[in-house]
Amino acid sequence: MALILGIESSCDETAAAVIDTDRRILSHKLAGQEAAHRPYGGVVPEIAARAHVEALEPLVAAALDEAGVTLDEIDAIAATAGPGLIGGVMVGLVTAKALALAADKPLIAVNHLEGHALSPRLADAKLQFPYLLLLVSGGHCQLLFVEGVGRYRRLATTIDDAAGEAYDKTAKLLGLGFPGGPAVEKAALEGDPKAVKLPRPLVGTPEPHFSFAGLKSAVLRARDAGIHRTEDIAASFQQAVVDCLIDRTRRAIGNAPGATALVVAGGVAANKTVRAALETLADENALPFFAPPLWLCTDNAAMIGWAGAERFLEGHSDPLDFAARPRWPLDPNAEKARGAGVKA
Ligand code: KG4
Ligand code: ZN
Repeated sequence: MALILGIESSCDETAAAVIDTDRRILSHKLAGQEAAHRPYGGVVPEIAARAHVEALEPLVAAALDEAGVTLDEIDAIAATAGPGLIGGVMVGLVTAKALALAADKPLIAVNHLEGHALSPRLADAKLQFPYLLLLVSGGHCQLLFVEGVGRYRRLATTIDDAAGEAYDKTAKLLGLGFPGGPAVEKAALEGDPKAVKLPRPLVGTPEPHFSFAGLKSAVLRARDAGIHRTEDIAASFQQAVVDCLIDRTRRAIGNAPGATALVVAGGVAANKTVRAALETLADENALPFFAPPLWLCTDNAAMIGWAGAERFLEGHSDPLDFAARPRWPLDPNAEKARGAGVKA
């Protein structure tokens, strides 16, 4: 059994956690930055980086303290090294390097997406490779065939916005505040998902790619029509997203023979309607369904520690000059999705 210190700072959450290779979460600490970004209606990179600098050191100390361990007792230090906002990633990675150097511990540079991708295995030891993963976050919307640690085959991606991004933009358009996902989910509870006719972009196309930009524009038109309740637009938007996710994932199941489970991870996986629809889809296809607990879906350091643990168990560590990577695809061989713009 080994103890791993995990550090996360790629977007707007500063986080530190201590976990062990037996899946015990000894501590997990999180400092959100919502208040700092709220006036701008989105994450401001420079504000984020400065907030990480202020929050990280005390958070690491608190995580070690709560776990009841010293830095000397830690076996490896795992930090997000990308993809993400470069300023924030550098704060976490440099801190991890300094701790690794000072305490003479191995450094593990973690791909944030791998943190999400493996998080369901931290939550549940029963989940084995290979599995079909729907990774839905603020920056990504991908279907991946997960063969093992570091072994990903991307089956599909978004050609424009990510699903979480669509939630955030819809929340902004509807004046529901920031962060958008939970706000839209809450408003949708009071609305009729059939009230507003919205498109289901790419549904039915042979390759299971995603597109959400047109949906966002349709939300804008529905709002400007001035005849719909905000709650009805929110519920109809959410239903459209769910329909897209389910249609695309259903198609990917056909392209992923050998998958032992259907798995969802990333911030949007915290959405109850999304989870329930995917669970039904898994049942229909006689696949076990795995989704991490809600707190483990959105950004946190326990999942970074766990990705580090999985790599540590394989004897992996990284050099102290490992450079932060603002872009870092899980499947470097994946071709660009047809119709995709320049975004990763
Ligand atoms: O994984 P995550 O914390 O950060 C990234 O790596 O992007 O995902 C954040 C995204 C945001 O777009 C947020 O609006 C969305 O996940 N999100 C949700 C919910 N909670 C967070 N979307 C829909 N419903 C939710 N309950
Ligand atoms: Zn994330």
